[in-house]
Amino acid sequence: MNVSTPARIAVLVSGGGTNLQALIDAQKSGKLHSGKIVLVVSGVKGAYALTRAEQNGIPTRTLTKKSCGGQSGFEQKLQEVLQENAIDLIILAGFMNILSGEFTAKWPRRILNVHPALIPSFCGKGFYGLHVHEAALAYGVKVTGATVHYVNEIPDGGEIILQKAVAVKPGDTPETLQRRVMEQAEWKLLPRAAEIVSREIAKGI
Ligand code: GAR
Repeated sequence: MNVSTPARIAVLVSGGGTNLQALIDAQKSGKLHSGKIVLVVSGVKGAYALTRAEQNGIPTRTLTKKSCGGQSGFEQKLQEVLQENAIDLIILAGFMNILSGEFTAKWPRRILNVHPALIPSFCGKGFYGLHVHEAALAYGVKVTGATVHYVNEIPDGGEIILQKAVAVKPGDTPETLQRRVMEQAEWKLLPRAAEIVSREIAKGI
């Protein structure tokens, strides 16, 4: 029998890390089994996502643009750290730094991102975190959702892997909508997409 080794996953974070938590929980429950989170990299010092990683025995690194002397220094250091850890798959889980085309070209179909809207709505430069939900409410859409996609040189422009719609409710605030989109869509889709792509990697596709 040919038992494949799990894909080695690095999760990149900047904030609270609830999507990282969803990935950790999926790993614990066996929903994510073709890949293993072996590293968490934070772009922000002291992000709570780092605590979540530490509580689960996952090694962490903090790399800020400032500490690396700007975007290109940051990406160079990130590439080194990923190679040192023999990473197969990068998952952006609330990572707020846009990666350059030079970097993404080194990882074709090997970087995933979760975006809190139905791409191509409310996406691209400037649409991140709570701003996405503020824009959806300001427009007055009745349905929003989340998207997991491959990352390429276009912000939020890579091939879509999974999407899920979520209803906007009367009286929603950006915060209540964000929470519903996370609970009903992001925390389900991201582990599912991680398993799909990890399985392809483990099979050598
Ligand atoms: C999530 O809603 C994620 O989709 C979004 O930031 C939040 C991070 O939460 N990401 C983006 O907007 C990226 N463009 P988390 O730190 O609790 O996972």
